[in-house]
Amino acid sequence: MNKNKISIVILAAGKGSRMKSPKAKVLHTICGKEMLYYIIKTSREISDDVSVVVAHQKDAVTELMSSYFDDINFVTQDAENFPGTGGAMKNISVKNEKVLVLNGDMPLVTAASLEGFLESKSDIVMSIFDLQNPDGYGRVIIKDGHVEKIVEQKDASLAELNVTTVNAGIYAFSKQILDNYIPKLSNNNAQKEYYLTDVISMARADGLNITPLLVDEERFKGVNSKKDLSDAEVIMQDRIKTSLMESGVIMQLPSTIYIEEGVTFEGECIVENGCRITGNSKIINSHIKAHSVIEDSIVKNSDVGPLAHLRPASKLEDTHVGNFVEVKKSTLKGVKAGHLSYIGDASVGEGTNIGAGVITCNYDGIKKYETIIGKNVFIGSDTQLVAPVTIEDNVMIAAGTTVTSGKIESGALAISRTKLRTIENFYHKFFKK
Ligand code: UD1
Ligand code: MG
Repeated sequence: MNKNKISIVILAAGKGSRMKSPKAKVLHTICGKEMLYYIIKTSREISDDVSVVVAHQKDAVTELMSSYFDDINFVTQDAENFPGTGGAMKNISVKNEKVLVLNGDMPLVTAASLEGFLESKSDIVMSIFDLQNPDGYGRVIIKDGHVEKIVEQKDASLAELNVTTVNAGIYAFSKQILDNYIPKLSNNNAQKEYYLTDVISMARADGLNITPLLVDEERFKGVNSKKDLSDAEVIMQDRIKTSLMESGVIMQLPSTIYIEEGVTFEGECIVENGCRITGNSKIINSHIKAHSVIEDSIVKNSDVGPLAHLRPASKLEDTHVGNFVEVKKSTLKGVKAGHLSYIGDASVGEGTNIGAGVITCNYDGIKKYETIIGKNVFIGSDTQLVAPVTIEDNVMIAAGTTVTSGKIESGALAISRTKLRTIENFYHKFFKK
């Protein structure tokens, strides 16, 4: 595809009141990334000239999207004086003769599905689909095989409300058409907004050629409510997991697995049922067992879970982390931590065994402190390591020890225990039996 042939304008300035949220609609996330991210990513695949129209929560939208993409033009809509999708097009300046306009609330659109808009020679190409329940969409009025107009739901007559052919919200215009008609839009409608969709009836009245392009609901569905958001997430999850399985990841019961956009896999990996893997996690030649949660972590040649939790910035290599082990911001290399542990702000060296119930006490209520554990250390069950603490190589720590001194030297045994006391016959006296 020749990237330079088309300019793209993404409308992302609206509030999205139907989301019933203080957050701008386009910033709601699907599989870990804002829905606007996906449509910008798709747009960048086909165009070098991508503009995003912003207004509502402009700073948040601009800042977040700039963290992913460095070559987007942000255009501010004068939403107070010119609200609506037509108002959003007022300050646009584009490089190319052909302009593709996309709604920012369509995260499921793919580059391949946009090809039909790029190829047509028509003055205007607009997307339509047929819906059993067209609620919320602009109805497309077609007479004698020609698109006459788009009527928004709030402006529609009863007869028009029954029309099931709707406007999906993607259009290819020539630059000249936009220059000509956008200034002529009025807000004489139920919502007192400037509708981009009115360009269609104006162009039709002038005898221009309008081509309706039938698109599929799965890719072109707008996200307007939290129900739509969860429907879109199911579809996006399916795409992410299908593509990962195609590239070699083994998944058991994939419908129960949640993997965010941005997670990568290398080598032979197995993900068992019920796992959640998020952020920019990287899984290399590893086995993630049932119901484990991995957030923004790197796991290499390791096995994790079942029921383990790796919190952000954990790095595991040649390591076994078992059930009910929580790791946070720690590096474990060649380590075994089989059961019931919290390892936070720590680095643990090769050959070290962390017994059941070992806790790094990394927080004193004000600050977090580090725990450094060397190689070949044996940490007995139920040990508390009160950070900051350093355990040198080849140390043994007895079960139940509370390590409070800053450093245990190589070769030592650390043991802190109250002396065991037994009272004979106590049981029988107490229970009187
Ligand atoms: C719009 C179409 C409708 C179509 C539907 C498809 C209009 C008038 N209506 O309706 O025909 O069936 O999309 O999904 O275009 N936006 C701005 N500035 C604004 C208002 C909206 O940039 O002042 C952006 C929003 O952020 C959103 C997109 O435009 O990304 C669409 O806005 P939305 O309010 O969802 O329009 P719909 O009512 O869905
Ligand atoms: Mg919409």
